[in-house]
Amino acid sequence: MKKTLLLILFALIGLNGLSQEDYAPTASNLEARVWFEDAKFGLFIHWGVYSILGDGEWVMQNQNISVDNYEKLPTFFNPIEYNADAWVKMAKNAGMKYITITSRHHDGFSMFDSQATDYTIVKSTPYKKDILKELATACRKEGIKLFFYYSLLDWNRDDYFPRGRTAKGVKGRSNGEWSSYIKFMKAQLTELLTNYGEIGGIWFDGHWDKKTANWHYDEIYKLIHDLQPQCLIGNNHHEATKMGEDFQMFEKDLPGKATQNFASKAEDIGQLPKEVCETINGSWGFNLQDNKHKSRKELIQYLINAAGYGSNLLLNVGPMPNGKIQSNHVKSLEEIGSWLKVYGETIYGTRAGTISPTEDMVSTQKGKILYLHWLNKNKDIIFIPGFNEKISSIKLYGNNQKLRFKKDDYGLTLKIPESVLDPIDTIIEITIK
Ligand code: GLC
Repeated sequence: MKKTLLLILFALIGLNGLSQEDYAPTASNLEARVWFEDAKFGLFIHWGVYSILGDGEWVMQNQNISVDNYEKLPTFFNPIEYNADAWVKMAKNAGMKYITITSRHHDGFSMFDSQATDYTIVKSTPYKKDILKELATACRKEGIKLFFYYSLLDWNRDDYFPRGRTAKGVKGRSNGEWSSYIKFMKAQLTELLTNYGEIGGIWFDGHWDKKTANWHYDEIYKLIHDLQPQCLIGNNHHEATKMGEDFQMFEKDLPGKATQNFASKAEDIGQLPKEVCETINGSWGFNLQDNKHKSRKELIQYLINAAGYGSNLLLNVGPMPNGKIQSNHVKSLEEIGSWLKVYGETIYGTRAGTISPTEDMVSTQKGKILYLHWLNKNKDIIFIPGFNEKISSIKLYGNNQKLRFKKDDYGLTLKIPESVLDPIDTIIEITIK
């Protein structure tokens, strides 16, 4: 009887399982989402042959470098100082729980061993090694999850032609074959999900290059979830999430803040886990002239803000062409790590708190404990309008010092002793009855 039922079920859904149209995440996927939301902090790495030119990952389009000229770059890309263990240890020490690395960016160059093209680090550089393989091994050793960024758009390939909104001035291509391009992506995604062990997620980017194209997401997402059901899919399309995606991402923006012209609209913000990505300076790929290094305070407060908006922070570094990460960036990551060692409990495993974020504060929450992160050291009186939860205690985090407060019909008012106001974050632990 059971067998007959199963057979009928298989006949109904087809032997290949459900299509992403009817996507119902597996238990392992749902578990991975919870892990992701608890993890809160990841390292984004933009690394490719473009790093040689020290002008960011868009240099091919920004300098209108022809395909022929750009293809000279791999011939002298030789990152002999690349040390996957050192990168992973650096991330771990910064308090990061996962790494998302560019497996192939818009320039179309594959930083991994691929049989679907010769334009790869293994086949076209003197280095000849698969950096993703080394990174996957190092991550596994340290218990860090690995995610792959994968560009949907490609400035190099024939079959992607005609290009979309970008790289119009890049010479060297004239014919296109969309179905061949889709086939190519599927072949590469299969490799990425087969050759590197368990993958935390795939981070798509570039949809906005051809907004109306048929990207075959249904097939692509299904392929990924069939190969690794737990693998989380996110797509940086700046729109509402589509069927088959597992998290929603926000580029250089806290969810709903919409400070960027490409920002997702408020109504497009959904219920899936969220991730904000931001640069440690002003660039994704290595940029020699970028001096906009964010301060310790800016970086730590960004992480706190992201958590208060119910989101992870994916903080980016762009390694240099030799495989090293700039020393000031390494130092900044260490500083965040030191802060998290003391205050991590108020970030990891939390969800957005019930106190709404303002310019001066955000809140995170774990069960009955609300962590109020006060980010303005110039004010010692905090007013939370409309706060009507029953309070069991209010104290400074990490210290049993009780705080004076007044709760009335208007809300909750707290007074922080000036001596404990922290220039980065004064954390107040509110226990609710
Ligand atoms: C943008 C940029 C891309 C970068 C990405 C990271 O989409 O075009 O270069 O990889 O942001 O969020």
